[in-house]
Amino acid sequence: GAPVEVDITKIEPGQLIRVEWRSKPVWVIYRTPEMLKTIEDISADNLKDANSEVEQQPAYAQNLHRSKRREIFVAVGICTHLGCSPTYMSEGYEEVVEGVNAGFYCPCHGSKFDMAGRVFSGVPAGANLQVPPHYYIDDNNILIG
Ligand code: FES
Repeated sequence: GAPVEVDITKIEPGQLIRVEWRSKPVWVIYRTPEMLKTIEDISADNLKDANSEVEQQPAYAQNLHRSKRREIFVAVGICTHLGCSPTYMSEGYEEVVEGVNAGFYCPCHGSKFDMAGRVFSGVPAGANLQVPPHYYIDDNNILIG
């Protein structure tokens, strides 16, 4: 499939947009400062793979925020358990994971991921959400693929 270009200036803080790449849903999310703070505050003890070592990730996404730019998160929107589509919850996530203000919840078997796509402990999924290959064409545009 052809690479997909995304204009990130059109994404509002806290918003998730979906594009399709190689027949897969890809999310591009503009994380707010509060979301970034929560990623930093989550204890590694609550995560299965805090450092993204279980599955190969692009080297540029193997950092705390799992992204090239702190605010912009790019991920394949497919649960790493059995392939359902996790729900993005920009609010109300405290009821899913205490003390965490936003994240992803998979309705199929209850897997939970933080705003960096890191999988929480105690759920069926064993790996973090996948980060697809992507790069910045310029300050405002990403090419996925
Ligand atoms: Fe997401 Fe099973 S497919 S928890």
